Order: sequence, then C-alpha cells, then structure tokens
Amino acid sequence: MLEGKKIIIGVCGSIAAYKSATLIRLLVKAGATVQVVMTPDATNFITPLTLSTLSKRPVLVNYFTPETGEWNNHVELGLWADLLIIAPASANTLAKMAGGLSDNLLTAVYLSAKCPVYFAPAMDLDMWKHDATRQNIAQLQSYNNILIKPGTGELASGLHGEGRMAEPEEIVQFIDDDVKSKLPLAGKKILVTAGPTYEAIDPVRFIGNHSSGKMGFAIADRFASLGADVTLVTGPTAEKSIYRQIKRIDITSAAEMLDACLRYYTDSNACVMCAAVADYTPVRVATQKIKKHDNDFHIDLKKTVDILKTLGQQKTNNQVLVGFALETNDEEKNAIEKLQKKNLDFIVLNSLNDKGAGFKTDTNKITIIDGKLYKTTFDLKDKDQVAVDICNKVTELINAKN
Ligand code: CTP
Repeated sequence: MLEGKKIIIGVCGSIAAYKSATLIRLLVKAGATVQVVMTPDATNFITPLTLSTLSKRPVLVNYFTPETGEWNNHVELGLWADLLIIAPASANTLAKMAGGLSDNLLTAVYLSAKCPVYFAPAMDLDMWKHDATRQNIAQLQSYNNILIKPGTGELASGLHGEGRMAEPEEIVQFIDDDVKSKLPLAGKKILVTAGPTYEAIDPVRFIGNHSSGKMGFAIADRFASLGADVTLVTGPTAEKSIYRQIKRIDITSAAEMLDACLRYYTDSNACVMCAAVADYTPVRVATQKIKKHDNDFHIDLKKTVDILKTLGQQKTNNQVLVGFALETNDEEKNAIEKLQKKNLDFIVLNSLNDKGAGFKTDTNKITIIDGKLYKTTFDLKDKDQVAVDICNKVTELINAKN
C-alpha cells in the first residue's frame, strides 16, 4: 500500500537512528518517495550523506540549507507528505511534539503536517517508563498520532527492558497494514475479468478478438488501490498490474474463464466482468494442424456458457455484479436487455460509434446504466480515470448492500 506514497521520515537523536537507514531502504523498495528530515542531534548518530544516498533526495536538517541557499519550507513539506513517520522518536522530540514546540525543522514540519503521523519511540527503559513520557504519548495519541510500540531487549545503555525502537521491517508492516485497514474497500474481495479469450481450432489456430485487457487491468488496479483483495482472471494479454498484491489467474479459453470465475465468485463482494469472452467455440478441436484443401472450409461452432449470466443466477443480496456491453447500434436498448437478462447491478456501455472508445485505445467513453435504468454518461477519459468512475459506483453499491 506504500507504493507511490510521499513519505517524510523524521529522524531524531538516538542510537536507533542507524535503523532509519534500513527503514528508508525498505520504503524506497516498496515504491515510496522518501524525504528525510533530521533533527540537528540526529546527525551525530548517522550522517545525512548515508540517508540522502538511500532516499535519493537531499536530507533536510535546518530551515535554511546554506550550500544551496534554499529555504526549507516546513509548511510545504507538511502539506506534501502523505505520511509522516518519526523513527526513531526520542523522548525529547516526543515532548516537543506533545507540547507544540517547534524549535527545529522536524518539529515545525510535524506541526504543519495534515497527513497521518506515526511515531516509533526509542529510549532507555527508565525514560520510557517515566510518567512524563507516558503522558506525552497519551497526548500524541489524543491528536490521532499513531504509536508504533518499542520492543523489549538489550538497550544501548547495557540495560535490558522496553524502549528499543521497533525493527524497520515491523514498522513497514505496521504502517502498510494500518494504511490498508483505513481504505474504503479494506477487507472486501473483488473479482475482475479482463482481456480476450482464445478458442482453439487446432494446435496452432484459434478464434479470438481484439480486446487488449487495458480496461480490466485498470479496474483491478483501482480496486487494489482502494484496499480490496483483488482476483484478476485474464485472457492472453501483454498488460501488467501495478499492484503486486493482485492475485492474477491466467486463462486462455471461455471454459477456463468460467471455471476460474466460479471458483472465486462465491466469496466475492463484487465482480466486474470486463473480459471480451468468446460467444462461440469450435465443436471439435483438431489434434493435428488442419491442412488446406481445394474446397472451402467450415468450422462448426457451439455456444459458450454465458459466464456473467451464470454468476447473475447465483448472485446473493450482498453481492454486486457488473457487466460490459460493447455495441455498434441500438446501444442503450441492447445494454438494458443485457443488464436485465443477466441480473446485473449496473452495466457499462461503450459504443464503438464514439471515437476513442473500445478495444486497444488508452481512452474510453462510457455510460453506466443501473438496475433502475438510471443513466450516467461520462466524458471521454483515460482508461484509468474511467476505472475510477466504475470503481466508485461499485464501492457505493457494496456499502449500500452490506
Ligand atoms: N460475457 C460472459 N460470458 C460470455 C460472453 C460474454 O460473461 N460467454 C460477458 C462479458 O464479459 C460482458 C458481457 O457479458 O460483461 C457482454 O454481454 P454479451 O451479451 O455477451 O455481449 P456480446 O458478447 O457483445 O453479445 P452480443 O454479440 O449479443 O452483443
């Protein structure tokens, strides 16, 4: 969940500052942009050079950087961040934060930040146990700042007890889980299908279509960014998901897509059937390559199972089911027929008469028609923006049904 996030790491004067190097490395590896802000004391424990090398950005310590002549605007920094993580948080900085003091850049950034704030204390066991520290932590929690508890073990003083900063891996896991749990679709399971299906004629030929998979992949990514557990059943495509946590199931034929959908649908809160599933498949698949003859050649085709209709028949009151209709004529009439026949919550209509809509383009123009036949028509947009509109509607319906 930290991919693409803008994160400020605040590093305070504590021996645990050496762990900040690993923390920064893990966050950068997770795809976050990391800006390090150190207190002046922290630079005695670890060099800004180490942390700027790992974060790939200059480290900020003071309001003013003499080397560049730049003013480090704490308000802009505070507004820039999606998350502020203070690790290690010393007893001194915790006290300043609790009291609203801003005598260095980090505490000023803290006061200016509008984003969630996490703090991972590091101090000796008696400092940690002291009533003043307890009170400061309670005060910070009352501001909705989130404590990442220290661990127990050997401390820099040689004493044994509580006060050791949580390990960088634990901090990343904690924040990742916390961010995810607050997303609108946290804990929801969503099934998405994408791409074409290929129906084999013989070992080298198939019946397919021009679907690129772009729309379905954009929808799956958007659901993942909203915190859902996404299963993406896809036909052959060159597309790749942005979110690594999406469970991808590759299939080739309509029959394989049916099997995969039946496996995952029962447990899903919603299903968006975006795939361009073949309506017909050869009756027989030749085991050897078919040779050409002088005469014309015919392939007998049989209907495939309508996956969406099958899911519509199984749909429970809590589930949301969405289909697509790609039409060239009588668009709305055809889409409404599909919506009703397949027991959908809404249907996404694209007309091939709209320029920039349909297969292989990066854009799409859609109309959403819901169960009450209420229509919403959207402008031509990039497919990832179209995905936002579709996923917003699904989220609204999941909330209404659960
Ligand atoms: N669909 C499906 N299983 C099929 C065929 C289509 O689940 N065997 C789904 C598609 O994923 C899409 C919707 O049904 O969400 C499209 O409806 P459909 O009536 O099949 O549209 P077309 O295949 O375009 O049908 P027609 O040729 O009649 O317009």
